[in-house]
Amino acid sequence: MIMEIAVQHYSREFHNPNGIEAAVDPLPRDARPDIFMANVAAADDSRWIRQADGVDFLPLCFGVTQGYYANLLRVRKSGVLSCHKHFGAVHAYVIKGRWFYLEHDEMYTEGSFIMEPPGETHTLIVPNDVPEMITWFHAVAGYIYYDKAGRITHHEDVFTKLEAARRHYEELRLDQRELDRLIR
Ligand SMILES: [Fe+2]
Repeated sequence: MIMEIAVQHYSREFHNPNGIEAAVDPLPRDARPDIFMANVAAADDSRWIRQADGVDFLPLCFGVTQGYYANLLRVRKSGVLSCHKHFGAVHAYVIKGRWFYLEHDEMYTEGSFIMEPPGETHTLIVPNDVPEMITWFHAVAGYIYYDKAGRITHHEDVFTKLEAARRHYEELRLDQRELDRLIR
């Protein structure tokens, strides 16, 4: 368990009334341990990391050896993630609220799955009448942000996300080992 969130523990017998045999050797010797977090959308507010005014993310996995991250993105007022270009694939699942990309026709409502291919440039907008949006994101590689003049302003990747999380944990004096446990 990564965070201090109530987790329900069930016995294997409860889940396995027919006595099916579990794998004898479920992990190779050098595999990294799994990550499990329950009720992630309800994590303590202190664990959400400020990305911009009204925009926070909750880290789930920092894939530093493969160059990806998984997180929850939360927008609590109408918001815009300004124009950016991805160099790797993005997968997303909308948990709450709705949003759209300025470059696409679709509105991504609760329960929507989205895959954006490497090379995509887009601008994420949460409509004014959505009080809270929460979406699970898996982003591979990095992406660069542009200003209105089309100039590159900054980039994001798993390392900038991890650095932001480190700073947040330092400021709030939270246990950095919580973040260590999310690094793979
Ligand atoms: Fe994006």
